[in-house]
Amino acid sequence: MSVFASAALRSSVISRLRAAGCVFAEDEARILLAAATTPADLGVMVRARAEGRPLEHVVGWAEFAGLRIAVDPGVFVPRRRSEFLAATATALTGPGAVVVDLCCGSGALAAAVAAAATHPVELYAADVDPVAVRCARRNLAGAGALVVEGDLFAALPVDLRGRIDVLLANVPYVPSADIALLPPEARLHEARPALDGGADGLDVLRRVAAEAPGWLAPGGSLLFETSERQTPTALAVARAAGLDAADGWCEDLDATVVTATRR
Ligand SMILES: C[S@@+](CC[C@H](N)C(=O)[O-])C[C@H]1O[C@@H](n2cnc3c(N)ncnc32)[C@H](O)[C@@H]1O
Repeated sequence: MSVFASAALRSSVISRLRAAGCVFAEDEARILLAAATTPADLGVMVRARAEGRPLEHVVGWAEFAGLRIAVDPGVFVPRRRSEFLAATATALTGPGAVVVDLCCGSGALAAAVAAAATHPVELYAADVDPVAVRCARRNLAGAGALVVEGDLFAALPVDLRGRIDVLLANVPYVPSADIALLPPEARLHEARPALDGGADGLDVLRRVAAEAPGWLAPGGSLLFETSERQTPTALAVARAAGLDAADGWCEDLDATVVTATRR
């Protein structure tokens, strides 16, 4: 807690957040009080949060896989459930593996794999959004990653073709019609291209799966997240691209990950 924070101030922040509908008001108050450096700063942060800005955008970071990941305004906030995707990728990452985080957003997945790997890896990350790319560069500065900007594989160095061992692609996968049902934090404060996956949510995945076999090393895997409802179609998409695909589910995080491997 900041030096200026008294019990009375803490309880007034909690009340303000509760009144604004924040379900985890106590936890959020603790984070805001720790992040603010002056009472004025705290006032600005509490107002922004009460107005619906995601907590992570207000304080500038999210906790992901035990790491503090910088998240700039507009950039997709890494979700807790994606820790399963990062863990699944880490388990496939051997010494010297070439790891690519496509659609990297803040770079949280690449950062988590790099932090968990017990040996050096060759790391790349890419996103179409320049704001996300800048953010990922900061988060991956210590991991020796090359972070590039552009549309899917077009952003990657061509000499990665046929060499990628672990291809993470947490593509946008919300069906367009469901965007309106998302909480306002996502709907209003994350960029639409970070969320919208087209009619059934799998449009970007289809593009990734179609090109993945040309970029994967033999035995290399494409890994992506889906909703439970999308999983059968997502598996079929990966198989139609010639990959051996299987899904895994993490009960704790309620997360589904498909691993699609080049034979
Ligand atoms: C669901 S977010 C995932 C971000 C990050 N991987 C994570 O898990 O926190 C999807 C990301 O895909 C990016 N994206 C959307 N379409 C893209 C495209 N055609 N090429 C590259 N990136 C794209 C968005 O900018 C966004 O950062």
